[in-house]
Amino acid sequence: MILEQETKDHSFVAKAEGAGTRLTVKLSVAPKTGIQSLKERYNTIKYDLGTGYSYPDSLKSMIPSNVPDYVDEGENYVEKITRALFYFKQCALIGPSGTGKTHIVYLVAKMAGLPLWEINCGLQTSVYDLFGKFVGLGKENWVDGLIVSWCRYGGILYLDEANMMKQDIATRLNPILDTRGHMVLTEKDNEIIPRHPNGYVVISMNPYSAEFAGTKPLNAAFRRRMSVWVDFDYLSVGPKISKREVTMIAERTNIPMPTTERMVRVAADMRKRYKNGDLPYAPSVGDVVNWATLVGDGLNPTKAAEETIISMTSDDPEVQGTVRRIVQMVFGSGTERPA
Ligand SMILES: Nc1ncnc2c1ncn2[C@@H]1O[C@H](COP(=O)(O)OP(=O)(O)O)[C@@H](O)[C@H]1O
Ligand SMILES: [Mg+2]
Repeated sequence: MILEQETKDHSFVAKAEGAGTRLTVKLSVAPKTGIQSLKERYNTIKYDLGTGYSYPDSLKSMIPSNVPDYVDEGENYVEKITRALFYFKQCALIGPSGTGKTHIVYLVAKMAGLPLWEINCGLQTSVYDLFGKFVGLGKENWVDGLIVSWCRYGGILYLDEANMMKQDIATRLNPILDTRGHMVLTEKDNEIIPRHPNGYVVISMNPYSAEFAGTKPLNAAFRRRMSVWVDFDYLSVGPKISKREVTMIAERTNIPMPTTERMVRVAADMRKRYKNGDLPYAPSVGDVVNWATLVGDGLNPTKAAEETIISMTSDDPEVQGTVRRIVQMVFGSGTERPA
């Protein structure tokens, strides 16, 4: 006879009895991990980017943890990016600043259990930092740069503002963007490093001019090598107000929804003007959360805006005046007595 019984610790006990012997077997079922339920939620179980991946202990801290949820309105951005990486090893994210491109790459790396190598191409990072250099005489004194380490050990290479990349770096990076590519370290006796099988590339770009400076077109060779392009936009922009954004800000700050709804209206108006080229910056969900945090602390929304979204948009008093008027249109001048 076989008896089965589920116990409280997620295990099953099977007992068999017969001919004077008794056998008891306990089977444990592993409880679902946090990562597993994230994969279910974002529908990415099919696309395992971390298959067979093992990494040196020293890279463990580069696997993101504590990444907040990513919210969208049914675009399924997490699924799209994970699928693109699964089939093509690389993809491009296009969208204005503050739409969560960096956030989502952290989340994808966390879910895949892969280290994340992040480079902001708009900064003046040198070829030495990215590819490597000698720090003394002799071969043993070579130190791998960030891109070389990614090529050796795998993970996700995230090139933020890829269109701002300097030509000398783009030229060296090009051959590795071939998914079966390799890199040659001419500095180091022409060492050949094949691209790691779990080496993925995500590039991102902001098509709206940063600080009115104008953006460069993406290097043509880069463009050809990206098979999937994912377009990002703000959750709320112009007249479109996202209930999910309103709820997310209320949940993160514990202030009432009617207040966060008005804050999102301000942000949505600013974002539309930013996309039209009339403001140099537009608030992200994170920026609205900062504003709401001060309101949660008891500040009047108009006053709290001065310290957050008004001053962060620009140092220019004229631009600040524009933002202030948007806030006042929605919240009043801030001099009224509290209700
Ligand atoms: N859809 C979203 N869901 C959750 N958080 C978001 C979302 N979009 C933006 N954010 C938050 O807004 C801030 C800016 O996002 P970030 O990833 O830096 O934007 P980008 O890289 O596109 O400029 C971060 O705090 C991020 O967590
Ligand atoms: Mg970013």
